[in-house]
Amino acid sequence: MGSEIRSAIDFYERHPISAEIIKAKLLAARGTFAGITPDDLFPHDQDHYGGLAANDALAERAGITPGTRVADFCAGLGGPARYLAHRYGADVTGIELTPARVRGAAELTALAGLGNRVRVIEGNVLDVPLPDASVDAVVSQEAFLHVPDKAKTLAEAHRVLKGGGRLAFTDWVAHRPLSQADADLMWAGMAATHLFDIPSYTKLIETAGFAIAAVDDLTADWAEILKVRLAMYQKLRGETQAAGTASGHDAFYESYVRFVDLVSDGTLGGARFAAVKP
Ligand SMILES: C[S@@+](CC[C@H](N)C(=O)[O-])C[C@H]1O[C@@H](n2cnc3c(N)ncnc32)[C@H](O)[C@@H]1O
Repeated sequence: MGSEIRSAIDFYERHPISAEIIKAKLLAARGTFAGITPDDLFPHDQDHYGGLAANDALAERAGITPGTRVADFCAGLGGPARYLAHRYGADVTGIELTPARVRGAAELTALAGLGNRVRVIEGNVLDVPLPDASVDAVVSQEAFLHVPDKAKTLAEAHRVLKGGGRLAFTDWVAHRPLSQADADLMWAGMAATHLFDIPSYTKLIETAGFAIAAVDDLTADWAEILKVRLAMYQKLRGETQAAGTASGHDAFYESYVRFVDLVSDGTLGGARFAAVKP
């Protein structure tokens, strides 16, 4: 296993958003797990910027409707997968690298009663454990930044999609090259690997065999969202320490503060890409 892959697992094994803290929050709020619905989980289980509206934007770009077979690359705790199943009637298979998150996704999906339409399986998006031409849509959110070979991941998305299938994902982009010190900080604190600017990323998607449908620069939106998210992480740090669950490491918080600055000044940002397999 490469050092980038090992580092992503290490980062997410210690990440403050975990099934344990979500369950602790649910119990504190409701006193019992009985009668939990997917809607009870959604305020807690989305590990990306922009919450449920970001899922809706991807669903629209990916053309997700009842019965659409979706692969969610880097599915985390399965929050977006459960949302796409519950709100849109999709059948979703998540691919997730970090074993603790795969286990957490199974627990949360069972709690939400969505086990018949959502499964998160352990796997690496560099070698996706799904057959060729087996899904109608591939989605992903804020995860390919951790993946050392994005071209290979895009090739895997192309392989598992049926003809006419759609790819829709969000990711970090670098509008300007990072200084070595900032690149080191993003790597040490958040397991961020090489980042592309929007034109280079677009070209990479086309090279994988896709026709681009839409590219949205989300940087201005993220600049606002990230300030709120930083405050959320600072509050969550106290909550996780009180609950005795994973709290994240110091380098994570240090690099997150710098990340918010880099997005505010337009060095880093985010983009949503949508494309079709012809
Ligand atoms: C920011 S989280 C996003 C989780 C989920 N997409 C969401 O929005 O809630 C990124 C996830 O990508 C996973 N990941 C990182 N590298 C991966 C890889 N090579 N293959 C599969 N999953 C990966 C991490 O374990 C983590 O759960």
